[in-house]
Amino acid sequence: MKQLAFINNRRFFHRLGKSTTGCIAAAILLSGCQNDVAQPYNQQIPAWFPELEIPADNQLTQERIDLGKRLFYEPLLSLDSSVSCATCHQISKAFTDGLTISEGVDGVLGLRNAPTLANIGFSPTLFHDGGVDNLELQSQQPIFSDMEMKFSIAGFLDRIEEDESYVQMFMKAYERAPDAFGISRAIAAFERTIISGNSRFDQFYYEADENVLSESEIRGMALFFSTENKCADCHQPPLFTNFEFENVGLYSAYPDSGRARITHLSSDNGKFKVPTLRNIELTAPYMHDGSMSSLQEVVNHFNEGGVGHINQSSDVQPLSLSEQEKQDLVAFLASLTDELFISNSDLMY
Ligand code: HEC
Ligand code: HEC
Repeated sequence: MKQLAFINNRRFFHRLGKSTTGCIAAAILLSGCQNDVAQPYNQQIPAWFPELEIPADNQLTQERIDLGKRLFYEPLLSLDSSVSCATCHQISKAFTDGLTISEGVDGVLGLRNAPTLANIGFSPTLFHDGGVDNLELQSQQPIFSDMEMKFSIAGFLDRIEEDESYVQMFMKAYERAPDAFGISRAIAAFERTIISGNSRFDQFYYEADENVLSESEIRGMALFFSTENKCADCHQPPLFTNFEFENVGLYSAYPDSGRARITHLSSDNGKFKVPTLRNIELTAPYMHDGSMSSLQEVVNHFNEGGVGHINQSSDVQPLSLSEQEKQDLVAFLASLTDELFISNSDLMY
């Protein structure tokens, strides 16, 4: 396979350089701050992606990412030690779980369908309703949630108290014993490495490899980007989302009010974050409530133009796609699957 043109995240190296120098000075006064043996992490981001913002207080290092990965796959973070983040965010399914509504400890049902975590570091808001706006805050939430891991940070810390290997990993990553600070930051650091940008679409569109898409997929791509069908207005490349909240007319009365749960505005009723379509073939069932089981069903929905909810986007209108065009659109969506991503051993534990 053709080698991808990756760029390094130069800003990251720049900032890391600065903070290390600052630390040497601080270390003389305060004895110990940043870990000056930390291994810098060489973030691989496709050249056509936007820059990944990384908070100044949680720069990526290999130690932080390694710890975050161990925690992401750690069932001890749940009440009965049966559920980890990876239970609902499985790499083989592009970090989703294949269920309509996710199941937590004891099979308790949550409220919504588990979204993919592909390129989650680029998302300015988190959850279908955008209720949380950074990964460091988000990563503690499933641990407490009764519908997910139903546990507590204190309970987890008791469980790993005797585990020297954990203590060492926390010390190396954040220069402190295991605590909520390190847990939430390490998981967030790992999540920022969940990057997917090597689908056949990328090879075709950004790398001019003309042989990778079939004729049907190319026709589907034209339909997707056409100004009549408007798919790409909301699902904008390269991330295939504009991160806005939209109502696509699934219901005339939404059981889950979506964005309005956060803003309490009736004009946000039934609006949900525009999801990325990368790896969409692997992340069925679809929509915030998992109510559509196939891509054909989703394409039929957009072709029919939604049920006409009062907040429905004017960009969702009846289209007049033929059967062949619908098939082509589905074929194009399947070209957004990134095989290297789902077999990336750096993301497995
Ligand atoms: C029981 C299943 C389950 C578990 C366990 C779980 N999640 Fe999730 N996750 C979900 C669901 C469902 C959502 C969507 C929730 C919503 O929108 O209200 C979600 C949303 C997210 C999001 C936001 C994605 C987006 O597109 O906005 C992130 C990030 C995330 N989870 C990370 C984690 C991490 C880290 C853990 C472990 C600490 C974890 N999840 C554990 C089911 C789960
Ligand atoms: C007005 C913005 C908008 C337009 C236009 C739009 N979408 Fe979407 N799309 C969304 C939103 C928002 C959702 C999630 C809705 C929900 O969960 O209730 C979504 C969901 C989807 C999903 C399911 C994603 C998932 O992970 O569950 C697919 C597939 C999809 N759209 C494809 C398309 C295609 C193909 C078109 C063009 C025919 C299109 N969309 C047009 C905003 C839009």
